[in-house]
Amino acid sequence: MSGVVVAVDGPAGTGKSSVSRGLARALGARYLDTGAMYRIVTLAMLRAEVDLNDPAAIAAASDVPLSVDYDPDVDRAYLGDEDVSVEIRGDAVTRAVSAVSAVPQVRERLVRLQRELASGADSVVVEGRDIGTVVLPDADVKIFLTATAETRAHRRNDQNVAAGLADDYEAVLADVRRRDHLDSTRAVSPLRAAEDALIVDTSDMPQAEVIARLVELVEQRSGAMR
Ligand code: DC
Repeated sequence: MSGVVVAVDGPAGTGKSSVSRGLARALGARYLDTGAMYRIVTLAMLRAEVDLNDPAAIAAASDVPLSVDYDPDVDRAYLGDEDVSVEIRGDAVTRAVSAVSAVPQVRERLVRLQRELASGADSVVVEGRDIGTVVLPDADVKIFLTATAETRAHRRNDQNVAAGLADDYEAVLADVRRRDHLDSTRAVSPLRAAEDALIVDTSDMPQAEVIARLVELVEQRSGAMR
């Protein structure tokens, strides 16, 4: 199979990254993590001590040299030549990334870059929030992963506990709901499923099953394209 473009969108806590990587692996496709790109720009802002309440300052400082790996088995992100793969997953970046990703100039620049990176003859799985709606509206297959707020909060709380952080499900659930509201009501690229996206609820489905279903779907669609 060659040249299939797959968009995978949805909120955090749906298993989106693992599913997207697994799908890319199964298809022999490249994998593009667009969230990592917003995180790299955010890290650069924090290091430059840009005022995150000032969208104009964020826009002015956002043209940073960034790159990410295409291999679904290699989670690598670079700011210039520096490997920042671990730092972009830290708390400081996670807290600040919403403010940075809400700035239209940041989105315009990254969307342009994402389109360039996704182009080419090879198959590619592109993961994010606005891939099927904004970045690649002509993607061959669009998938929108969902899960109940409770499921996503349980998953995140389990991750927190595994990382040695506080075990506080109620607080995590409140945060998931707050972020859902912010993400779906923000002015620029609100989180929503494309009209032609297949919506998959991962609440009660093991990850391997989700991946198998998506592989099947992509094969059906790409068969129909030939
Ligand atoms: O998927 P993630 O948690 O690594 O994404 C980090 C942040 O970037 C998250 O707050 C949503 C934002 N994001 C976005 O606005 N658009 C995308 N295409 C990908 C991520």
